[in-house]
Amino acid sequence: MNFKKNYILLFLLIACLSCKKSEVKAIQAQIIPAPNSLKLLKGQFLLSSETHLIYDEELEPVVAYWKSLVTSVFGLNTGKSNIIRFVFDDAIQNPEAYRLNVKPEEITINASSSKGAFYAVQTLIQLLPPEFANGSLNTDGIYIQNLKIEDEPRFSYRGMHLDVARHMYPIDFIKKHIDMLAMLKMNTFHWHLTEDQGWRIEIKKYPKLQEIAAYRDETLIGHYSDQPHQFDGKKYGGYYTQDEVKEVVAYAQERFVTVIPEIEMPGHSQAAIAAYPQLGCTGEQVEVATKWGVFEDIYCAKDETFDFLEDVLDEVLELFPSKYIHIGGDEAPKTRWKTCDNCQARIKSEGLKDEHELQNYFITRMEKYLNSKGRQIIGWDEILEGGLAPNATVMSWRGTEGAVEAAKSGHNVIMTPTSHCYLDYYQSDTDDEPLAIGGYLPLEKVYSFNPIPEELNEEEAQYVLGSQGNIWTEYMPTEAQVEYMAYPRILAIAEVNWTKSENKNYENFVTRVENFHRRLDVLNINYANHLYEIEGGMTSENGRSFYELTTLTKGKDIRYTLDGTEPTLNSEVYTSQIPITESVKIKAAVFNSEKQLGKTFTQTINYHKAVGAKITIDKEPHKSYPGSGAEGLINGISGSDTRYGDKEWLGFWGDDIEITIDLGKEKKIKSVETIFYNANGQWIYIPDGVQIGFLNSKNEIVFPFVEQLFEPITRNTWGINFDYDEWFITRYIVFKIRNYGVIPEGKQGAGNKAWTFIDEIIVN
Ligand code: ACM
Ligand code: ZN
Repeated sequence: MNFKKNYILLFLLIACLSCKKSEVKAIQAQIIPAPNSLKLLKGQFLLSSETHLIYDEELEPVVAYWKSLVTSVFGLNTGKSNIIRFVFDDAIQNPEAYRLNVKPEEITINASSSKGAFYAVQTLIQLLPPEFANGSLNTDGIYIQNLKIEDEPRFSYRGMHLDVARHMYPIDFIKKHIDMLAMLKMNTFHWHLTEDQGWRIEIKKYPKLQEIAAYRDETLIGHYSDQPHQFDGKKYGGYYTQDEVKEVVAYAQERFVTVIPEIEMPGHSQAAIAAYPQLGCTGEQVEVATKWGVFEDIYCAKDETFDFLEDVLDEVLELFPSKYIHIGGDEAPKTRWKTCDNCQARIKSEGLKDEHELQNYFITRMEKYLNSKGRQIIGWDEILEGGLAPNATVMSWRGTEGAVEAAKSGHNVIMTPTSHCYLDYYQSDTDDEPLAIGGYLPLEKVYSFNPIPEELNEEEAQYVLGSQGNIWTEYMPTEAQVEYMAYPRILAIAEVNWTKSENKNYENFVTRVENFHRRLDVLNINYANHLYEIEGGMTSENGRSFYELTTLTKGKDIRYTLDGTEPTLNSEVYTSQIPITESVKIKAAVFNSEKQLGKTFTQTINYHKAVGAKITIDKEPHKSYPGSGAEGLINGISGSDTRYGDKEWLGFWGDDIEITIDLGKEKKIKSVETIFYNANGQWIYIPDGVQIGFLNSKNEIVFPFVEQLFEPITRNTWGINFDYDEWFITRYIVFKIRNYGVIPEGKQGAGNKAWTFIDEIIVN
């Protein structure tokens, strides 16, 4: 026996037993969504393998979830040094509410259901370093700041939607998404499973849904508005097997997330009709759609279709225990129904007025079927067409009017207006954003959303169950791109739904989002970071104009130049508004003491003759698209020509408008130009016509009204220029703008009023 060797081994053993891994310091409470009451207290709790668990049986599932997390960090839980106590407390009214008390010797969680306790645990996880959640932390103990939280959600429906038809993602990604919903205390996953471009759920009775409807021949390249359309020539598709669906539903259930499937009807059903042409009105073969949009081949309202849909739903109901089943209902053109013998016979035999009432018949008949199976339907707000099915819940997406109408008639509503909840819209107006469908919905606008429409009184507001972010995936071919569009805006959706208005604060939220980046990094999430971007704005006072620069996060410098050069660490630090007295190009960026953090912001200011003048519009812009008010039309700044939702564009829904600019005194001018947005997929049309006229100080016409008429275009914008050969004197400039009118059949949004979007009016 070699004494020396054993001695060394013994020494190593002792050294190792005493080599404590370091303990982790308490982190600042930075919880998203913000708890409704949080008090920080003195002292800390040390979470370690010595922490003992005591719990009431009712909360056992959550204790098991917590135990598995702790075990993966510290090994087996054996000790008795301090306690985490899970208390079943049926005095707590709301099953989703919880109390969390962190004291030096004990953490107490009170809840009246596992769901509430689960949310307490999610809060606790956010009080720990990000590495705790994925088990990658290597430590003996973690300190937690003492505090007291009393928390409950503002709304009972806190949802996220995902379209897996335009593009499809693996089951593991769906689970990762559900994990994040759970972390953010969201309780509903709306799984959009069928579309014109693909059918994604296995239905055993109809094998052609798997063979044919699940695959499209190819996919549109680039943006829909890029003409002519080009295709990639690659077959695309797939579907989730029923076993996979079961796995997702069970996974979600363990995380207190309800999965609501959406089976679209009567529209957005071209893939199913491609598989079974007899489900359409014409019986003709169609293809699974290869581009985006609204398609005229919808389900025929004949018995065979209803039999098919009932069979499909029978299998769907077996897989999804959710109380609600989403039946779509949106964007169903009535073209085929108008000329179909079967549909017309149905209209007659049921005593219906027209095809809109046939839509109502369709939805109501399917509702009856689902009600008979103990389920309730949700439909997009088009289900209000021709009357509302008796027990339906309305998902309001075309603004909030549908929600108001439904709530006033005693129906539940879920708010998902495009203006605040469509996460497929651009989140930044910088030029290098990845291709998106259009629009502009920055983080702050999502955060500002109040799901209760102003038009509802307190009693009617009870019908608003909550809101939901929607992720339509036409332009999201990869998981990374879905995450880029979802984060960080999903954090805002979570807080909109959970945190009461009086406890919300955007500045504070942004600080938490910045801090949350590290958590998202650890969880391997491809979030967008626009926090270090700069916002600029013109202000005018007594005819003098100034430019203001702001950025979201604290403790950093904005540096800028006015000569068109790139800002550097040596450039001037912005401290107060920059006076503007001539046309100029401002470049600015956010810096810390070492380097530039975000992208360079560039603003060209065109100091034309109307900048700082008085302007009035006879209508208010729509509250979802106020731009920077009427003054924004003469602030020397032109908005993006790819994002109509920015601060420069004003949106009007269906109104004719009259704009008057008062130059303050008579001035010599020669030309006036302005610009309108055109995005027919988003229901935005250039005006039917625009008139312009000029008046002097005595209100006498100095130049009679001239008119420029609508011309069909496919580009994003329509600029008009009234350019005169001679200089002339005027004080007032009057624009009369005629809205396009009602959107014609066959176009997206057919039958709805068109929007008018206008930007800078440039006077020279
Ligand atoms: C929708 O965006 N078509 C509901
Ligand atoms: Zn028909």
